[in-house]
Amino acid sequence: MAFIFPDSDFPIQRPRRLRKSKPLRDLVRETHLHLEDLIYPVFVQEGEGVKVEIPSMPGIYRFSPDTVVDEIKEARDLGIKAVILFGIPAHKDEVGSDSWSDTGIIQKTLERIKKEVPEMFVITDVCFCEYTSHGHCGVVVGGDVDNDLTLENLKKQAVSHAEHGADMVAPSGMMDGMVKAIREALDEAGFKHIPIMAYSAKYASAFYGPFRDAAESTPSFGDRRTYQMDVGNVREAFKEIYLDILEGADIVMVKPALAYLDVIRMAKESFPVPIAAYNVSGEYSMVKAAERMGWLDGKRTMVEILYSIKRAGADLILTYFAKEVAELINKGEIEKWF
Ligand code: PBG
Repeated sequence: MAFIFPDSDFPIQRPRRLRKSKPLRDLVRETHLHLEDLIYPVFVQEGEGVKVEIPSMPGIYRFSPDTVVDEIKEARDLGIKAVILFGIPAHKDEVGSDSWSDTGIIQKTLERIKKEVPEMFVITDVCFCEYTSHGHCGVVVGGDVDNDLTLENLKKQAVSHAEHGADMVAPSGMMDGMVKAIREALDEAGFKHIPIMAYSAKYASAFYGPFRDAAESTPSFGDRRTYQMDVGNVREAFKEIYLDILEGADIVMVKPALAYLDVIRMAKESFPVPIAAYNVSGEYSMVKAAERMGWLDGKRTMVEILYSIKRAGADLILTYFAKEVAELINKGEIEKWF
């Protein structure tokens, strides 16, 4: 629908009229942030009584399966509906076998959470970089990740997560055909109803730095440029998202968020599925660092960033800010700033 400009300008047209009072500004605001938009990423490791702050991510911790339950309850009490789990195993190997073990870190954690906080919607990140000794997102053959061998292991991991109570799986390794492989494996194992949220357009980004500290997942050699996307591309993101939907993705994701708002908008305008955006570790840490330096107002900056991600078209936001922003939403604090 093309906009027809009115046949008049100033002084008839006065955009400031709609900004005159707060109720009016509230009435005409185009974008809103809701508790239902948020997915809170949580890190779990082996052990008991663990709650260790991640140095490069102030306010974000690594938990053990017992302590994570309290964190999930806190998130629930704040009105957060969904979390995504990242597991850091005690033992890593060449293929990342802890990720599909019945006694793996994610499996144990899922059981605990599902027993004690059954109302929380639990998503699992399905990947290998936290589980492999070399830190790559799959089976390495000849110095690079072998796509099709990795698919076999991804199937085992996704099915195991579903068996232990995952409500949705989120493959993040950027392997070709990963969504189809996982869909088929889940269906065969009787998990036809478990949705897949695919990390479809995931870029080879410097913004993952703090996460790799948190998850001990920095590659021991090379980098991820043979599987994650080139920073300069947006038409390629269209292709990746398109293929993932054909393969059976229920929700598609763009990651990172802030430096890729154009990709989020493209995805929203092009595809009839929910769009998730991952407001990644580096985006979080930048704000926290500047806030600590006293260089900007951290809370207002956080809110502005989250609004920008919604405005670009995200339906869901994975964000380490989830608890902090939920608190502001509950207190009606954000309202006061508009
Ligand atoms: C891979 C994975 C990564 C993130 C989520 N899943 C890291 C990577 O590709 O190195 C990054 C998330 C963040 O930076 O917050 N399993």
